[in-house]
Amino acid sequence: MLELAIDAAREAGEMLKDLAGKAQRIDRKAGEETNLVTELDRTSEAMIIKRIKARYPDHEILAEESGRNSRQSDYRWIIDPIDGTTNFAHGLPIFAVSIGIEYRGAIIAGVVYDPTRDEMFTAEKGRGAFLNGEAIHVSATSRLIDSVLATGFPYDIKTNRGNVVHFENFLFEARALRRLGSAAIDLCYVACGRLDGYWELSLNPWDMAAGVLLVEEAGGRFTDLRGRPGSIYSKTVLTSNGLIHDHMVGVLQRGEAGGSDRAVKGP
Ligand code: IPD
Ligand code: CA
Ligand code: CA
Repeated sequence: MLELAIDAAREAGEMLKDLAGKAQRIDRKAGEETNLVTELDRTSEAMIIKRIKARYPDHEILAEESGRNSRQSDYRWIIDPIDGTTNFAHGLPIFAVSIGIEYRGAIIAGVVYDPTRDEMFTAEKGRGAFLNGEAIHVSATSRLIDSVLATGFPYDIKTNRGNVVHFENFLFEARALRRLGSAAIDLCYVACGRLDGYWELSLNPWDMAAGVLLVEEAGGRFTDLRGRPGSIYSKTVLTSNGLIHDHMVGVLQRGEAGGSDRAVKGP
């Protein structure tokens, strides 16, 4: 199954790379001013689903653009056909195809393909994480002040502002903060040590299914914002190299409890 996910992600990713920046239709999702969907989100998803259905017609599929099929199966394929659609639509080369495979509720395999850099991130439960076939590991950074972190914001940010306070707090606590615009790539970058930690408050299962397995298989930690075991269905995600995890939980807790640290630490 991993091989099929790799082939499907590569095929869709190559198509996206070839057509990136070329004229295409861009729509807004119903009622959401900033949530875009391009015709290539749909094309990419259809290509991936076609391959899965040809080989595993009875498997369940949960995909961002077409939703969930009605199969009852122990296997569920969880697909984000373009993670980083806003980047993609604006010609920013940070986007990926993400495919996770669940078996009886546990993620057993994950693939994230970044076609711009031709980087294929893969993981199978219990077998480690890989970038283009080479084993990858989380970073060894042990202090938050030496860490580079990333986060992201939801499309309904105007009414879902919860992460703004955390963003501000981590600005003062870490070496640097990034907002790359692709949760799947953020997670892979934690897995391979380019980032030390990543959190977000409002994700969907397809954003993180593959990426969280990559982090765990690369030796990192995946929890909710309070440090409890993570779930791809619970919206929130905190991942790190493990070493800075508790410190990150502390900052997030402080943000939830008392708002901004600015009065204490900032100008
Ligand atoms: C989005 C990206 C972004 C994250 C958003 C996601 P999409 O996914 O992963 O980085 O901050 O929360 O919705 O819409 O580009 O597939
Ligand atoms: Ca996504
Ligand atoms: Ca998407």
